[in-house]
Amino acid sequence: MSVIVVGGANRDLSVRVERRAGPGETVVATGSYESNGGKGANQAWASARAGAPTVFIGAVGDDRAGIAQRDELVRAGVVPQLSVIDGLATGLAVITVTDDGENSITVVPGANERVADIVPTTFPADAFVVVQTEIGRHASELAMTASRRSGARLIVNAAPVLDIDPRAWACDLLVVNEHEAADILRAAQAGDVTGPRVAQTILALTGAEAVVVTLGAAGAYLCTGTSGEVQHLLTRPATPVDTTGSGDTFVGHLAARAFLGDDWATAVSAALAVATASVEQAGARVW
Ligand code: RIB
Repeated sequence: MSVIVVGGANRDLSVRVERRAGPGETVVATGSYESNGGKGANQAWASARAGAPTVFIGAVGDDRAGIAQRDELVRAGVVPQLSVIDGLATGLAVITVTDDGENSITVVPGANERVADIVPTTFPADAFVVVQTEIGRHASELAMTASRRSGARLIVNAAPVLDIDPRAWACDLLVVNEHEAADILRAAQAGDVTGPRVAQTILALTGAEAVVVTLGAAGAYLCTGTSGEVQHLLTRPATPVDTTGSGDTFVGHLAARAFLGDDWATAVSAALAVATASVEQAGARVW
């Protein structure tokens, strides 16, 4: 019985700048750092750090980045089921972080393109399966379908929102940030929806049992059940240094806490606390 994360693994190359370069412009970074990343691997790391037995299913290249990824996951207590893909490099994320802590990310998928080949057809029925969509539409759908078929609990992080029917996001808990929420509403032509109604509308559109919309410094909306009741859960103020991976910390911690027995509201509040702490340091895996 464990949390099983299916998702992307990258090597992150982060540069800090005072401001982003415009088209055709060159700016000088104030610093740079490399680290292990990838939304799925970050979530697995956070889940294990929160004390849940955690498996990560993903793909890396036959390179130093793949070895570093495996080593760090193992050190955190994750059981990595990493497929090593010949002829493809480990995924690469080029991340620009500005002085306000905001990030923008460009991903070269590399070996992540082959995750679809290794997604299991079934999962243990008592598992909590976590899927985020950085591995592409096909692999994500395979993992979601296998999880539903197995009767496992399914947490989906629609990051990024893929061009699929909203009903495809049906799961026990759907987690999106404000941008992803807007993408889902736009795709469904839901019109002008704001505030807590965003979470309610996404729950109704997708058929998810519960929906979390994260709001950055403003906390998160949690919408559960057929009543569509929305709770606004708050977090403490923080001065962000680097927001990279804070959403992954949130999802991984939330999955672990739910696996360990918390109800959604308690798990979301705990996950908000660690995600907030994570933005106060540089890098995707910090708290
Ligand atoms: O969510 C942050 C992650 O997105 C980074 O670690 C990067 O690898 C990209 O996948």
